[in-house]
Amino acid sequence: MRAENILELKNLSAGYGPECAVADVTLSLRRGEILCVVGESGCGKSTLLKAVQGMEPRLRILEGRVVLDGKELQSLPEKERRKECAERIGMVLQNPGGAFNPIRSYRKQFIETLRSRGAYEPAAFEDRAAEALKKLGLEDCRRILASCPYELSGGMNQRVALALTLLLGQEVLLADEPTSALDATVQLQVAKEFLRLGEVSGVSQIVVTHNLALAGFLGDRIAVMYAGRLAELGPAKAVTASPRHPYTRGLLAAIPTLAGRMPAPLPGQPPPGGPVKTGCAFAPRCPRALAECRSAPYALREASPGHFTACLREKGDGK
Ligand SMILES: Nc1ncnc2c1ncn2[C@@H]1O[C@H](COP(=O)(O)OP(=O)(O)O)[C@@H](O)[C@H]1O
Ligand SMILES: [Mg+2]
Repeated sequence: MRAENILELKNLSAGYGPECAVADVTLSLRRGEILCVVGESGCGKSTLLKAVQGMEPRLRILEGRVVLDGKELQSLPEKERRKECAERIGMVLQNPGGAFNPIRSYRKQFIETLRSRGAYEPAAFEDRAAEALKKLGLEDCRRILASCPYELSGGMNQRVALALTLLLGQEVLLADEPTSALDATVQLQVAKEFLRLGEVSGVSQIVVTHNLALAGFLGDRIAVMYAGRLAELGPAKAVTASPRHPYTRGLLAAIPTLAGRMPAPLPGQPPPGGPVKTGCAFAPRCPRALAECRSAPYALREASPGHFTACLREKGDGK
C-alpha cells in the first residue's frame, strides 16, 4: 500500500562530526507537493537535503529517521539504501555543472545515468528523452542532447536537469538553491518549470531557497529553518501572509519591494555552531524575546491548523 506521505523525517538530527548541523527535524513531504525550505546561509538547509539523499559520506544521521514511501531507510542494508535513494530521489544543485560533467554531452551523460540504473533501452531512448524534454518545454531534443552543459545557459541547464528526473521516473526531487545562480529574469521561468514538473509527473519536491518571495510563489508549504532547526512550517500563503515566528517576520521585512518601501535588514547573524542546546537560538536577535525564551526547550507547536511554530510567544491565535 502506498504511504500517505512520500517522505517523512522524524526527529532527524545529522552532523558532519559528533555535533549536530541539523537537529530535531520532523516534517513530511506530501505526494505531489512542493515544500520550500528557507533560511539564511548556514542554517542547515543543504545539510537537511543531504541527510535525506543519503549520499554524502561525511554526513551522519545521529538520531531520528528518514522514511521514504513507508520504508525506513536507516534499517536497510547500506547497499540497498543507496540503491533505493538513487532510484527514487533526484537532486538538482545550484549549479547543474556540479551534477553533470560540463564538457560531456547530455546524451552521453543521460545514457550513463540510465545504464547505471539498469534502465537504458537503446531503442526507446531518443523518444523517451524527447518526451521528457518536451514536457519541460524543450522542443529541440537533438540539439540539447548533443550539447555539453557549458554550451547551454544556466536556465536551460536547470531545465535539462529536471528532464532527467522525469526520464528516470524519480518520485522525489531535492533542489538546492536551483535558481540562485541565475539572472533575476530567468529565475521565475525556471521556478515555473518546477511547477510544471510537479504538474506533468506528480513528483514531490523539496526546494531550498534563501528567497522567501520565491518560496511564496513556488511552494505549497514553506519550512523556515534557523540554526539547524525548524522555526516555522505551514502553508506557503499563511507563512508569508501571517508568519508565526519573529525570524520569518524578519526575513519578510528584509525583502526589497518595488513599492518604495526600503527593506529592513535583519540585524545580527545565526549562531555559527548550528543548533543550540538550550533556549531559542533566535532569542539574541529577537525583538520580542522574554527571559524564558533563553531557557525553554525546543518544541514545534501547532499554532493554527497545519501551521507550526517554534516560538513560544506564538500561542493559539495570538500574534
Ligand atoms: N561538508 C561539511 N563539513 C562540515 N560542516 C559542514 C559541511 N557543510 C556544512 N557544514 C556546516 O553545517 C551547518 C549548516 O550548513 P549548510 O547545511 O550548508 O547551511 P545552508 O545550506 O542553510 O547554508 C553550518 O554550520 C556549516 O558550517
Ligand atoms: Mg546551502
